[in-house]
Amino acid sequence: MRLARRSFLAAAAALAACKGRDAGAQSRGPAPPLKSLAPWPVGCAVMTSELADPAYAQLLSRHFSQLTPEWEMKMEYILKDDGTFRFDRPDAIAAFARQHGMRLYATTLIWYAQNPPAFQKLGGTGQGFADAYRNYILAVAGRYRGQAAGWDTVNEAVAEDGEGLRDCIWSRNLGQDDYMVRAFEHAQEADPGAVLFINDYNLESLPRKRATFMRLVERLLKRGAPLKGIGTQTHIDAKLQPGALTTAIRELAGFGLPIHVSELDVSLNRAAGLLTDRIDLEARQARLYGEAAEAFAALPERQRFAFTIWGLRDKDSWLRGEKENPSPPWDTPLLFDDLGNPKTTFWAVADAWRGRK
Ligand code: G3I
Repeated sequence: MRLARRSFLAAAAALAACKGRDAGAQSRGPAPPLKSLAPWPVGCAVMTSELADPAYAQLLSRHFSQLTPEWEMKMEYILKDDGTFRFDRPDAIAAFARQHGMRLYATTLIWYAQNPPAFQKLGGTGQGFADAYRNYILAVAGRYRGQAAGWDTVNEAVAEDGEGLRDCIWSRNLGQDDYMVRAFEHAQEADPGAVLFINDYNLESLPRKRATFMRLVERLLKRGAPLKGIGTQTHIDAKLQPGALTTAIRELAGFGLPIHVSELDVSLNRAAGLLTDRIDLEARQARLYGEAAEAFAALPERQRFAFTIWGLRDKDSWLRGEKENPSPPWDTPLLFDDLGNPKTTFWAVADAWRGRK
């Protein structure tokens, strides 16, 4: 059965490809700059290798007003095994943002997924580990002081299934919740002007995870952590139920803090279990982009921090390079096709925001 469904989808994909996908988008005429439709920052995840491509840089700066380094401002790039730092590539992204009048949003200071050898060597050293932790955050957040509008200070602290929090090198050495309170305090010390976010994913598709996340936010706020923003990554797939996005954004906004839709993309491949064809998948995908755009736009102005898409063109998507479950070339999760043409997904966002500025 699965084989039949998969070959059915593959055939539909091939058919759509030869018919010229996204015919609907082609009939819409020239695309207005997306950022011109929104009174809030419209962000995109980037990496230095992409910025070096003039066509990429031109499309990016036409439509977006904020950048997030996709991975080169993270510990995996900055912190070398010997404990020294390298900043060439994050500095280059910060410089590109400055040169193009774009806001910089930074990710991420502390993330369970980053387990660098330099910290592994310090595991169990108590104050030594704590000092290195503070030094890393002061050095990195301090370097972009006055440049980064905000930081994903703590990333993905909630367990995958939403039951409790992740065990990681940070919680093992500094304590659960405590490592997060420290991260926010050190980041505020380094850059008092940056909006400090906690960021996580599947908050729309897994209500149990959203509930755990919200209880964590409550605890951190009660402890006085300078947590000033909530990031909902919004990596979703086309089978997400209509309304789930709106419910999640509304609930998360209940804290009254700025909201960052921080990593939006809508995978078709991950919805491939649906018995449907590509046209229906693309229609579901566009509706979800429109719902995300509408739900964000409906927030009070003070809570509309930024709306960020996790990549520029479909071929730039992380999903294509995903180790566990790489997307095939027919998975087109973003707003622009491989040639940089706006897709139906682009128009879904543009139509949701038209008239708001
Ligand atoms: O570009 C280098 C290449 O030169 C080198 O040969 C290769 C092997 O070492 O690495 C390449 O860099 C990789 C980079 O993606 C570009 O493909 C890094 O190793 C790899 O770690 C990096 O993965 C990023 C991942 O976070 C881990 O930082 C993805 O681009 C990025 O999309 C992904 O983003 C995360 C968010 O931070 C948090 N939410 C989930 C999201 C998707 O996983």
